[in-house]
Amino acid sequence: MARTLAVVLDRADHRPLGVQLADQVRRQVGDGRLPVGARLPSSRALAAELGVARAVTERAYAQLVAEGWLEGRHGAGTFVAGGTGLEPAPRRRPAPAPAGPALVRLGTGTPWIDPRYHDAWRRAWRDVAAARPPDGYDDPRGLPALRVELAARLARTRGLDVDPDDVRLTSGTGDGWRHVLTALPPGPVGVEDPGYRSAAAGAELAGRTVVDLPAAGVADWDLAGLAAAYVTPAHQHPLGHTMPGQTRVALLAAAGATGALVVEDDYDSEFRYDVAPVPALASLDRERVAYLGTASKTVSPSMRLGWLVAPAEVLDRVDRTREVTHDAAAWPVQRAFLSLLREGYVDRVVRSARRRYARRAELVAAALGPHGDLGGPVAGMYATLRLAEADARRAHDAARSAGFDVPMLADHCRGADLHGLVVGFGGCTDEQLAAALRVLTDALA
Ligand SMILES: Cc1ncc(COP(=O)(O)O)c(C=O)c1O
Repeated sequence: MARTLAVVLDRADHRPLGVQLADQVRRQVGDGRLPVGARLPSSRALAAELGVARAVTERAYAQLVAEGWLEGRHGAGTFVAGGTGLEPAPRRRPAPAPAGPALVRLGTGTPWIDPRYHDAWRRAWRDVAAARPPDGYDDPRGLPALRVELAARLARTRGLDVDPDDVRLTSGTGDGWRHVLTALPPGPVGVEDPGYRSAAAGAELAGRTVVDLPAAGVADWDLAGLAAAYVTPAHQHPLGHTMPGQTRVALLAAAGATGALVVEDDYDSEFRYDVAPVPALASLDRERVAYLGTASKTVSPSMRLGWLVAPAEVLDRVDRTREVTHDAAAWPVQRAFLSLLREGYVDRVVRSARRRYARRAELVAAALGPHGDLGGPVAGMYATLRLAEADARRAHDAARSAGFDVPMLADHCRGADLHGLVVGFGGCTDEQLAAALRVLTDALA
């Protein structure tokens, strides 16, 4: 005999009646209230019982038959199917976030966004809308016109003499690093310590062992046995210094002697305040260095766009993988960035952001310099203050109580025993920065 179904349909619910019905039957089958083999009422009888059109019950049954919860037996009716072995996924609503004021994060990675960005973005987007997207999968290497534009810009701003054919578009530095990792021979990779945590995490997620390359003091690294060394020569992240010329030469010699690839993360080199940006390490040796650039600091981290310039054999392997996986930077994003480059927005923002960062860096130096060992800053959007561990903790906690999240230097260390604060001043307002500096100086006084 057909069972009656305990189903309640709510006409005030925004979900269609058939969807509500299917949900409830699915749940009852999943939790065993409707056992395997149970016969359901006919769609006609159920429709009459529920006061809905028959099409509603028919569609719900058809959906559940298609999903394998029910089966129709010719001439006999609709039954709970056996052997699904499936439980409907319980619907979990995320627990509401605990109430409380949001912290202002003075992070190292958040740039100042030029107020002109919104207009520039609208213009770029109009340009994208007028262009015709490629019909199929596009060239995974990136838009040819963008590679031409980037090659010219890299020559002009980073001293990198590259052919557009040497440039690959990625979805940012992390994505470029992942591509390089797939192209490397097996083996551990070195990452500066303290260093860019995402780079170490990316390597570990790719199944590589990470070897710490001490970044404080003289960097005379032995690269023997390493597949690659990930470094930030223009502006060591997070200590803030520029890799000296002799160290550059020694690093390239070590790479040459061991066969390790040097991976240059050139994240914020254009924002040098005092002199022209130091040329890229890759400009000294294109055969041993893979270069990673990003739009995250000039346009916005949400663009998710970057570029990779690497030795030919690395690019070949990256290209072959991307050909198979259809991995590529999104066409509309590349197209929009091309517009922003062509109209001069990126150059304008570098000039105005550099001035702003230089001014903010002076404020940070004046406030925090007397309290610890401040490395520069000479470039970029953060300053690193070395402190005794207890002082760093006290200042961090005081900032937190006042509504500011100021990263600790120890959070960027793996094995290194260094302490202090890394004060990002890109993504906040002048007022927020002034208030945070007052709290920090009071705590350190
Ligand atoms: C050292 C370093 N490299 C690169 C990036 C940018 O990464 P992506 O291009 O993936 O946004 C950041 C951003 O915070 C960074 O701090």
